[in-house]
Amino acid sequence: MGKKTIRTGIVGAGFAATFHFNCLQKVHGTNVEVEGVFATDTAQAAGYSKQRGIEACKSLEELIEKVDVVHVCTPPVAHEPIALAALERDKFAIVEKPLTGYFGDGSEDFNGETFPKADALNHSLASIERMLAAEKKSKARILYAENWVYAPSIQKEREIIEKTGAQILWIHGEEAHSGSHAHTYAFWKFSGGGVMIGKGCHPLTAALYLKRVEGNARNAGPIRPKSVSARTHAITRLDNFQDKGHIRCDYHDIDDFSLMHVVFEDGTIADIFASDIILGGIHNWLEVAANNHRTICNINPNTAMRTYNPAEEYFKDIYVVEKTGTKQGWSMPSPDEDWFTGYPQEMEAFYRTLAYGERPESDSRLAADAISTIYSAYVSAEKSGAEVAVKTF
Ligand SMILES: NC(=O)c1ccc[n+]([C@@H]2O[C@H](COP(=O)([O-])OP(=O)(O)OC[C@H]3O[C@@H](n4cnc5c(N)ncnc54)[C@H](O)[C@@H]3O)[C@@H](O)[C@H]2O)c1
Repeated sequence: MGKKTIRTGIVGAGFAATFHFNCLQKVHGTNVEVEGVFATDTAQAAGYSKQRGIEACKSLEELIEKVDVVHVCTPPVAHEPIALAALERDKFAIVEKPLTGYFGDGSEDFNGETFPKADALNHSLASIERMLAAEKKSKARILYAENWVYAPSIQKEREIIEKTGAQILWIHGEEAHSGSHAHTYAFWKFSGGGVMIGKGCHPLTAALYLKRVEGNARNAGPIRPKSVSARTHAITRLDNFQDKGHIRCDYHDIDDFSLMHVVFEDGTIADIFASDIILGGIHNWLEVAANNHRTICNINPNTAMRTYNPAEEYFKDIYVVEKTGTKQGWSMPSPDEDWFTGYPQEMEAFYRTLAYGERPESDSRLAADAISTIYSAYVSAEKSGAEVAVKTF
């Protein structure tokens, strides 16, 4: 039997749209035809389409008409309307993280620090409900682009949990680096929060996923989050922060450090750190303390390769690893960073769902639990860490 062909559209033409397109070139279970791109930054969309020999569509609707699936690679504020537009026409939506959120009251000068966080929780739960309802009505589905679920180290841990019947007692994990590149990231009204959602969603969703795997392996159903206690801080906006030029520090109204302490319904726990204050490249890891084993998943960096370079200029044309400040001295070049990060595996899996109906590991329910946990965590942080119940879907 020949491979099925999937017609694809990309929404957004920035960083995520770039790695999505690159990973589409590596999908081999299906044929992929990229029909076009649409982005509100028309100049960026024109450059993106020209470079890749695809059409720049004039509207979202025009793009959706042509395709079976859209990749939602826009800032989080636009995820819900674009996903709904696709689902209403029975087209799949591959939605980047975070699934959705609360982006303020629409006022130009909305301040993410001063509004009651219960509003953010209520609005984001309502957004999730709208997205889940649209998915239920549609012939298509939401595929949640949480690459940590597909990272090879997390998938190896899934195998260990499933085959050994492990009970996970404690997960701790972190996503951190020296600051996101996107201009819009600095504003709550575009990002739906700060680092707790922007980066914290990655290790949190991996933790929720592994507890789901654990419960399903025992035929008991997923083990869901029950409550969360959290702290957030804005370290780079402290009056006494001394800027040496290595850490991004122009955030407007968002947190740049966060800690979530999650209690699951079986009483076990996860501690999730996220920050924008870490030098030395991306720091993405997850550790699992189980009743029968202990695993450390190093997503980035890892020691597949270690290189000593005595002079910066030797490596001027060499990509080493994301967000390192220098290539001189010892470094850990990633021979295939996308692979360790889970991007191509995620794309392959989604296209197998599209073509052959395979069940996605990262779906709207997992995304919904992550969003619900994170906004409950913002409510907790507002109360200096008081325990807040998490609603699950
Ligand atoms: N999984 C990951 O590792 C990862 C990494 C980076 C970004 N992301 C996610 O990808 C998404 C995009 O982030 P980015 O870094 O690519 O941002 P970006 O600023 O680089 O690009 C955003 C693009 O979206 C377009 N856009 C904005 N609003 C739009 C709308 N309403 N309709 C159509 N196009 C619109 C812009 O014109 C731009 O081309 C975010 O949700 C982000 O969290 C995920």
